[in-house]
Amino acid sequence: MVTCRSLTVGMREGEWTRAVVDVPVSDLGDGEVLVEVGFSCVNFKDGLAGSATGRVARIDPLIPGVDLAGVVVESSSPAVRVGDAVIVHGYDVGVAHHGGYSTLARVSADWVVPMPAGLDARTAMLVGTAGFTAALSVAALEAAGLQPGDGDVLVTGATGGVGSMAVGMLARRGHRVVASSGKADAADWLHGLGAAEVIDRSETSAESPKPLERERWAGAVDCVGGATLAYALRTMRYGGSVAASGLTGGSGLATTVMPFILRGVNLLGIDSVQTPIDRRRAVWQRIATDLRPSWLDDTSVMGAEVVGLEGVPAEMDRILAGGMRGRVLVDPRR
Ligand SMILES: NC(=O)c1ccc[n+]([C@@H]2O[C@H](COP(=O)([O-])OP(=O)(O)OC[C@H]3O[C@@H](n4cnc5c(N)ncnc54)[C@H](OP(=O)(O)O)[C@@H]3O)[C@@H](O)[C@H]2O)c1
Repeated sequence: MVTCRSLTVGMREGEWTRAVVDVPVSDLGDGEVLVEVGFSCVNFKDGLAGSATGRVARIDPLIPGVDLAGVVVESSSPAVRVGDAVIVHGYDVGVAHHGGYSTLARVSADWVVPMPAGLDARTAMLVGTAGFTAALSVAALEAAGLQPGDGDVLVTGATGGVGSMAVGMLARRGHRVVASSGKADAADWLHGLGAAEVIDRSETSAESPKPLERERWAGAVDCVGGATLAYALRTMRYGGSVAASGLTGGSGLATTVMPFILRGVNLLGIDSVQTPIDRRRAVWQRIATDLRPSWLDDTSVMGAEVVGLEGVPAEMDRILAGGMRGRVLVDPRR
């Protein structure tokens, strides 16, 4: 019996368990393509999948890991060849279908993104779902009219995965980035990623009875939600847009219609999970080229930690506690 090494999560004998075990390859689920995983990474959703109360896992046991990059070792699809370097993320991966925290992953050929020239498994997973979401956000803001030189673009949750990647991508596009963070010691790091200015999270998460405040932002990438998204809307400049992707600060939204009907503000919803595959492949091409953060290959800037499968549970807990700075990579062979 051929097996692979995987982190599995789920209820075992009445207890929530996270354990590295040998899994038969025949148990990896359906799919035409078998990938030898080079790297995965840790996202907020992975933290939820690894938590008894996270409510995102839809099979039990589950091999989490919503992102993976590696090399195809078996394929029954004419569209994907053995030896191809690929990226796979989103759809059911890591929630309803076994994911990237494994030495091997079996996936649908329809989920496969060919590795763009200029990226490899490591840099692709440094970007991962977080960076893909940041790329969708920047693309949506620019499609709605934002141009370099228009003014300050706010990034909230800036030290997290989506936030740090958005800082790098916006800076690469020539925007002036203002990064909001709750981590007082992260200012130098955020400047290194490309932020022109760093402001404290207490300002961007403050609640206010006022429906509108001073017009400040030309655009915003918000992965925090809650009071922070309400702040971004009421301080957006006339005609500006907010790309909203997350809820680390809460899923509620207490706002009024005033930003929309008096300032023509746009609220742009961002979803990385069900992005159609052709668009997904096109956005990855942009990540490798015009959206590529200038520091992506420079480990002295992002300095992503690399953990093995045994190290993943602690990282799942850390990301849920809001303690992440940048990205953590997972090397399943470590
Ligand atoms: N829509 C999609 O397709 C999609 C895709 C990926 C992620 N997401 C969502 O985007 C969010 C961020 O994901 P991620 O992987 O980047 O997570 P992450 O690495 O943990 O980043 C989130 C950041 O939010 C800030 N934060 C944490 N708790 C907060 C609080 N209570 N109030 C305000 N800010 C808080 C922290 O940054 P500072 O300390 O710097 O403030 C934290 O680093 C999550 O909600 C995730 O589910 C959505």
